[in-house]
Amino acid sequence: MTKEKLSSIYDSEEFRRYGHEVIDILADYLKEATSRSEMPVLDWREPEELVAEFDFNNPSNADLPPEMFIRKVIGGMNHLHHPRFVGHQNTPPLMAGMIAQICTAVLNNGVAVYEMGPAAMAAERNVIRYLAGMIGFGDGADGIFTHGGSAGNLTALLAARQAMSDYNIWEEGVRHDRPVGIIVSDQSHYSISRNAKVIGLGGGSVIRIPYDNRYAMRTDLLSDTMKRAEDRGIRVICVAANACSTATGTYDNLEEIASFCRENKLWFHVDGAHGLGVLFTDKYRHLVRGLEHADSVVFDFHKMLLTPGLNTVVLFRDGNRSYETFAQKAGYLFEKHDENEWYNGAKRTLECTKSALGIVAWSMIRYYGQETLGKYVESRYDLAARFAEAIRRESDMELAVTPESNIVCFRYAPGGITGEQLNDLNRTIRKEIVRSGEFYLVQTELDGVIWLRTALMNAMTDDGDLDRLITSIKKRGAALAGERN
Ligand SMILES: Cc1ncc(COP(=O)(O)O)c(C=O)c1O
Repeated sequence: MTKEKLSSIYDSEEFRRYGHEVIDILADYLKEATSRSEMPVLDWREPEELVAEFDFNNPSNADLPPEMFIRKVIGGMNHLHHPRFVGHQNTPPLMAGMIAQICTAVLNNGVAVYEMGPAAMAAERNVIRYLAGMIGFGDGADGIFTHGGSAGNLTALLAARQAMSDYNIWEEGVRHDRPVGIIVSDQSHYSISRNAKVIGLGGGSVIRIPYDNRYAMRTDLLSDTMKRAEDRGIRVICVAANACSTATGTYDNLEEIASFCRENKLWFHVDGAHGLGVLFTDKYRHLVRGLEHADSVVFDFHKMLLTPGLNTVVLFRDGNRSYETFAQKAGYLFEKHDENEWYNGAKRTLECTKSALGIVAWSMIRYYGQETLGKYVESRYDLAARFAEAIRRESDMELAVTPESNIVCFRYAPGGITGEQLNDLNRTIRKEIVRSGEFYLVQTELDGVIWLRTALMNAMTDDGDLDRLITSIKKRGAALAGERN
């Protein structure tokens, strides 16, 4: 691929040829991956082995034609489009999003300002209005896209910190003689507490509330938790709720948290990175009742909306809040510093250059619409409920909690094995299954117990696949338990 003349590196015919070949390879790949073939979900290789394979000096990489490189990449990745991919909350994306992402990669506008991607900003604005309408926010709502839910939570917490400060925290920095606190559920995603540290609030600023037997925030403890924080000299500024939580997919009671925030004049943040797909459904929308009262909301298109990542939207009930956060002077970008120019995105996010995320999200909504996306979400939640019932029917399996979303936590639990031995058994079952390529599933720890965990993201996964998963777990579990005795 060495080019003699620099001008030839933009050979559009080469792009056309290569592009067609790659699309053909990818289409064949998608056909196989979605066909419930015996192709491994993940062809497990040890990390160092793969590093050696991708070494520039490895002879197999010399003069590697581009299409062979693509095949090599495919072979070394996890196959999300495989119906037996039931692991992390990464989605097998749909065609419209994938193609939009290829287009945005070619055009490569860095949409910090309107001039660098006008259509992207216009698409973003329309998606924001569409989602704000779905939530029930009024006309004053606004928002911004970020690369991922962690960056989205950071953007929202910065806005909360700014709005709730009684001095100019942006200019003066955090004053440690006036510590502030954020109340979270003990099941909140780690990005909330990490971001609280990133923005200088310190580890002590994150005040954790225990969870109930659904793994939802104990809202009955809110008043007491706030009072105890204040007794320690911490001024609580925000409550961050889960809709839903990462580990178990549980929805916090947003209505109760909203009314507590209203009564106490606190910022109400909802981390809906995973669970706000329910807005697209009639059946499950009730899980986020009260969302319309949130001050800020984070939602990942790349989780439950079948969109390639990263693609996150941060919404503010009062759009002005998003402008106050980054009162940044950047003469080379903005002509006017004091105006709420929605079309200059960098005024409202810590990112400067940003992909044209709005175009990808817009394409997904335009192409598939609320009905198809809603059907997908509903079907995955329904499937999780049936999977939980199937687990309940097995005398040697246990469910951590009745699923409220498409996330199910369960374990193999034959009689006579307890504690760390049982944890080890489940860890080993998972490892064996993943390395066999039969399924990809994950694990989580809740109160010292290791649970197997599935996030049913793939629209092709069906009851038969999950029956096979149960059989595989029981077979491997029984053999491993036998070896131990
Ligand atoms: C509830 C929740 N919030 C935030 C995140 C972080 O999102 P991202 O991985 O897009 O940064 C996750 C990721 O799993 C999540 O489940």
